[in-house]
Amino acid sequence: MGRNRQIREYIRAYQWSDMLAMARNNKANPRQCTDDFANRLVVITGATSGIGYATARAYARHGAHLLCVNRNAEKSRALCGELEREFGVRCRDIIADLSRLEDMHRVGYQLSQLSEPIDVLIHNAGTYLTRRVVTADGLDTVLAVNHLSSFVITTLLLDKLRRQAHGRVLLVSSEAHRFAPWGLHLDDLCWERRRYSGLRSYGSAKLAQLLSMLTFDELLGECNVTINAMHPGAVKTESGKENGALYKWYKSRILERNFRSTTISADALYYLGVSAEVDGVRGKFFNLTTLENPAPPALDRAAAEKLRDVSLALGRLDDPLRSPAPSGREEDAPELWGETPIAESGGLT
Ligand SMILES: NC(=O)c1ccc[n+]([C@@H]2O[C@H](COP(=O)([O-])OP(=O)(O)OC[C@H]3O[C@@H](n4cnc5c(N)ncnc54)[C@H](OP(=O)(O)O)[C@@H]3O)[C@@H](O)[C@H]2O)c1
Repeated sequence: MGRNRQIREYIRAYQWSDMLAMARNNKANPRQCTDDFANRLVVITGATSGIGYATARAYARHGAHLLCVNRNAEKSRALCGELEREFGVRCRDIIADLSRLEDMHRVGYQLSQLSEPIDVLIHNAGTYLTRRVVTADGLDTVLAVNHLSSFVITTLLLDKLRRQAHGRVLLVSSEAHRFAPWGLHLDDLCWERRRYSGLRSYGSAKLAQLLSMLTFDELLGECNVTINAMHPGAVKTESGKENGALYKWYKSRILERNFRSTTISADALYYLGVSAEVDGVRGKFFNLTTLENPAPPALDRAAAEKLRDVSLALGRLDDPLRSPAPSGREEDAPELWGETPIAESGGLT
């Protein structure tokens, strides 16, 4: 489909009722889940601040063991110490910069080698940059962290996930996918040929993440692992801390005026990961815990298929359908839980 025709299709598909529903949902409180999650394994990226931190605490409070994929080793160790002391759960970490392909591959490989099932995998790490920053691999940083990292890690995990008897994958996306109202420029995902703006780049990366959910949902097929995406609310976090003084002033004085606490994001991510009410729900977008129609470009299956090919190339991955062996080296296999897998250890001894 030509780009103009595609835009005309999207315009036809936009519905005022969806926008009004989003406005309503933005004010709602998340549904609560009080079920226990003792001795289950939760993997979360970017747990050292904001939504990831609050969510790691929520799962630990309910007894889950945490495996956190964090960038900052010092903050990560402090987090694990805190969760272990306060909640008596196990917390381990993998230190990785998720803007780097090598680290994404290492994380994907290490997780694929875990002997226990991953009960909940939360792709939370994200970044918002007002200026284009190019990664060591020549990629746009916002695309790499917000979309490619979850794409590469989930792709490398597909075989493990398909073998699991249960499990849920959650993508922390954003209503900001609506900032890419006419879809993705698949020939320029890294903003080499277009004028970069923070909102457009972030919106495109979040849209890419939502489109990747459609193809992962298909690839997971009828297996017992589901994938869903969510908007975690507009909440006060460290997001944008890499930006300049003007942005920080605007964020603290204007943008965040009506922002809420990360508790709502953590409650929503706990509900979506644990509640029986979400059993069997797959390939959906939630605003906190309310099912919502995303913008039309996020439902474009043809674009999702093309994005998959582009992401496999950008992520330097062979299609796992053609080549099931994950990349990575033997020595990268994790020694995370010692000799005994969590499931057999009955938790902390
Ligand atoms: N806050 C909101 O209102 C809002 C709204 C919609 C969506 N979201 C999404 O929610 C998610 C969490 O963001 P947040 O608002 O909680 O922001 P945050 O406080 O800045 O937390 C982001 C987390 O991601 C980690 N991270 C960033 N870049 C990384 C990289 N290259 N490698 C590894 N980890 C990296 C950060 O690690 P460090 O501690 O090392 O920086 C931190 O742990 C993001 O995906 C964001 O897009 C947030």
